[in-house]
Amino acid sequence: MTTPYYITTPIYYVNARPHLGHTYTTIAADVVRRFHRLRKQETFFLTGTDEHGDKIVKAAQAEGRDPADYAEQISRLFRDLWPKYNISNDYFIRTTDSDHIAVVKQILQKIYDAGDIYFSEYEGLYCYGCERFYMERELVEGKCPDHGTKPELIKEANYFFKMSRYQDWLITYINANPEMIQPERYRNEVLSFLREPLDDLCISRPKSRLTWGITLPFDRDFVTYVWFDALINYVSALGYPEGEKFRKFWPQARHIVAKDILKPHGIYWPTMLKAAGLDIYKSLYVHGYWNVDESKMSKSLGNVIEPDYLRKTYGTDAIRFFLMREMAFGLDANFSEDALVQRINSDLANDLGNLFSRVLGMFHKYFNGVVPDVSPAMQEEIASLLSKPAQTAINTYQQEMELLQFHKAMIAVWDYISVMNKFVDTAAPWELARQPDQKDRLEAVIYNLLEGLRVIAGLLYPVMPDTAQTMLAHLGYDTNKVEYLSLEDLGRWQVLSPGIRLAKAVTLFPRIEPKNEQRKAPKGASEPIPKAEGEAESNARKPEIDISDVASLDLRVATVLKAEKVPKTDKLLKLSVDLGSEERTIVAGIAQSYEPDALIGRQVIVVANLKPAKLRGIRSQGMLLAAVSEQGARVATFEKPLPPGTPIK
Ligand code: MSP
Repeated sequence: MTTPYYITTPIYYVNARPHLGHTYTTIAADVVRRFHRLRKQETFFLTGTDEHGDKIVKAAQAEGRDPADYAEQISRLFRDLWPKYNISNDYFIRTTDSDHIAVVKQILQKIYDAGDIYFSEYEGLYCYGCERFYMERELVEGKCPDHGTKPELIKEANYFFKMSRYQDWLITYINANPEMIQPERYRNEVLSFLREPLDDLCISRPKSRLTWGITLPFDRDFVTYVWFDALINYVSALGYPEGEKFRKFWPQARHIVAKDILKPHGIYWPTMLKAAGLDIYKSLYVHGYWNVDESKMSKSLGNVIEPDYLRKTYGTDAIRFFLMREMAFGLDANFSEDALVQRINSDLANDLGNLFSRVLGMFHKYFNGVVPDVSPAMQEEIASLLSKPAQTAINTYQQEMELLQFHKAMIAVWDYISVMNKFVDTAAPWELARQPDQKDRLEAVIYNLLEGLRVIAGLLYPVMPDTAQTMLAHLGYDTNKVEYLSLEDLGRWQVLSPGIRLAKAVTLFPRIEPKNEQRKAPKGASEPIPKAEGEAESNARKPEIDISDVASLDLRVATVLKAEKVPKTDKLLKLSVDLGSEERTIVAGIAQSYEPDALIGRQVIVVANLKPAKLRGIRSQGMLLAAVSEQGARVATFEKPLPPGTPIK
């Protein structure tokens, strides 16, 4: 029996529409959930909405609405958004649910009966944005550090939770259980809060001021303060105190939050759990902020990124991948559409998409889409070249995913993609295909590449479930069973059965044209007629030129995306190349030296500002640099990969 696993997101306030920040946390939790599913662990994944409190009342009033209707409408936006991002939550909790309300009352009563809740008069500085009182020393120039607004001085009698009583216990507990708050910087932050005396926590509001909340079970004139209500969702959703789910999953609880709500989760919640006689959650995973132009994304700053726009423009999997790959979990990250397009084009369309279409393309070309039966001797020789690095990738991936270091897990997968791409180049199946005595080797090369693709698809499943399914369907998997993949199975090699027929490849990720960055139309230079191989006019040195002549050449790094022979010629190849900001067609006279497949994925040097010319009816937009000698043509290339479009100076 594997250990169950319980993962939660914060429950989001319903005072504003969902944005990229909420989407990030929820995708991260979904990735964790799917990763544990890959490990065959029974997992419960919870998300939901936090619907009571001043904040919601104010937002509803601003639209002339009743808080309950308003909460329903915004909560619906979250519930409708998540399936579009392939979020596989088991339950969606709302703090207005009657079951939740009953549990909040039960826990309040329990703590009250135990003597940890008392009534007292209090005067303090209250921030409506945070819905809490601030100490003078916590303010920055007299203003709330999160909202930049001046808190109001409020005097009222309220109920308080004796949080201070648990300060020493909490310090000892955190020190004894370092996995409780991760990454380490946030554990240190909580411990440093705890170096100052901990105040008791005000947990109520008089109904004269707020009615949109849960009535205290021991005083009908008061409602609960929003955090006491909200945090309890993590146990009420499991059916506390009796439910089977509660017994199974609560001891394995992990919460994901951003650093904005570290204090409620790192201090209020464990002390509340302790006072209520409940186990403390296992881990709190804290991530940084998505910033836009270096400022935190927020409605008030007007820099909110809409998840629906992103998904519709770039696709669900591309966004899921970008968010997981771009942010180092724990640190802030900056969002930009340019960076997104760059990642889609280089990591997804180029590295992953090309490998997939290249391998399947050759497999169909050489074996008509039927999986070859590889000879044991050849398998022995070839398999480990790809299975060993696959195992390394799986191990690193697993370690990093356990720590929620998604970006490092993705780097491990991309390192393996690069091993696979290099293997294609060195094994050169197109050359083996020309030699009948190399048939065995060709079979083994292609078969093991298909196996490698299977590992990649499986590892990508938590982050890009749709892409993984498409890839696996093309590798002979029954897609209904993709959900039952396991990490253990992925580690096995030689899974694909000989004799089965596989479907032709599809384009996994089309390249995207960057929005505002259309390259200027090429100008200058005279009519380009690329010299076909062997046509080099003369090897004689050319007259001396000036530096400005060199500077007028726009030479750039380009990656070959597609290559095919131009019909009815022996010399010309039609190439599609990725020039960073655009895709170009180039006709090159190198067909006698290169099989088209051998060029795919290669990086070449392109004269990017050459005036386009028609060659055999094809518009050629530039030329690539190659040395031409009696031995044929050799295209100039680079020892290490570079971003396409990099200028050569
Ligand atoms: N309702 C409380 C949480 C109660 S949990 C028991 C709340 N809600 S919220 O709507 O403000 O959501 C805060 C959470 O949304 C953050 O902790 C984070 O998960 C996510 N994010 C909101 N803005 C974000 C960024 N700019 N960047 C990253 N995540 C962000 O607090």
